[in-house]
Amino acid sequence: DRYCVIMCGGIGSRFWPFSRTYRPKQFLDFFGTGRSLLQSTYDRFSRIISPENIFISTNEMYVDLVKEQLPEVADERILAEPQRRNTAPCIAWAAYHIQALNPNANIVVTPADHLILKEDSFAECIDKGMKFVEKYPALLTLGVKPNRPETGYGYIQIEDDNNEDIKTVKTFTEKPNIELARVFVESGEFFWNSGIFIWNVQTVIKAMQRHLPEIVNRCEANKEVFNTPKEKEFVNENYMACPNISIDFGLMEKASNVFVLCAEFGWADLGTWGSVYEFSAKDRNGNVGAKGKQLRYDCNNNVIAVPENKLVVLQGLNDCIVVESDNVLLICQKKEEQRIRKFITDAKVNF
Ligand code: GDD
Ligand code: MG
Repeated sequence: DRYCVIMCGGIGSRFWPFSRTYRPKQFLDFFGTGRSLLQSTYDRFSRIISPENIFISTNEMYVDLVKEQLPEVADERILAEPQRRNTAPCIAWAAYHIQALNPNANIVVTPADHLILKEDSFAECIDKGMKFVEKYPALLTLGVKPNRPETGYGYIQIEDDNNEDIKTVKTFTEKPNIELARVFVESGEFFWNSGIFIWNVQTVIKAMQRHLPEIVNRCEANKEVFNTPKEKEFVNENYMACPNISIDFGLMEKASNVFVLCAEFGWADLGTWGSVYEFSAKDRNGNVGAKGKQLRYDCNNNVIAVPENKLVVLQGLNDCIVVESDNVLLICQKKEEQRIRKFITDAKVNF
């Protein structure tokens, strides 16, 4: 059977102050569609995987938000982590939980901060990937053709040994520095890691036993607790001791049975305001986000996210980000958006 794990326990700091610790980006609706990134991810996967096999992995802090946004997801399908430990422990827990339900499960693990433009090609791709891992003990990731030296992604070098669209992975480099990223993109041999993984539950557990024993040894020794009333207590007692590490650094960079399915499904990672700007409908002056009452004079190419009940008057503003949320107002140049992380530190306010 096919299962899905949607990971939505991250923070999304570059969208501050729109994204806050108590309401991170995956719970926000950036495009005014009425569905948040998490809801759109759920919608996309519930067309491909039976909804009773879809799990949501999040932090305890966000359980209420998840329930509010996805009332159709039963409590037992929300895996609530007591601490933030990045994606490797999250994937390990989900794997052991699902294994207890079905020892031969095939799982697609997905982030909740993506935009997918071609949903049909995407569905085909997941189907193809599932068929592959049903047959081979592979750690499969979906790869995307890069178009710029972005340092926030994983880079996958392929072994061009066949004409199939699933290829052997030669190297996997998570978040390289900018010089390396440039070399990778120029070489034409690399793909971006989309962060969407497909594998059989046994394959991923075996790989983690080899590369992440600090995480899975405890699970292995207490296998019988999963999917029982004792599971939550076990997790609460052991989660803190897990290393804080992403699956990309912890497993994908190290494992040898990694494969990549290179596909075209209009993928975009919504990492920054720049990406939201790129994919949003713009008015004739290139501005994005005209909710509520706004008066704009000589303003071009801005992204504006302010509460609807606020009258906003702007004059002579170009290529900027204007975001107001609760007690914070941020105005900065779009091209300087990487500095938002620094602004948060300097502001010394609750993120
Ligand atoms: N449950 C849970 N717990 N989810 C988490 C946690 C956690 O501790 N930390 C992060 N997540 C969720 C995030 O909410 C997001 O949906 C997903 O896991 C991926 O985490 P990110 O923090 O967004 O990762 P990234 O964007 O830096 O890098 C990953 O995605 C890139 C593509 O967008 C990597 O897989 C890269 O290799 C990849 O290129
Ligand atoms: Mg991300």
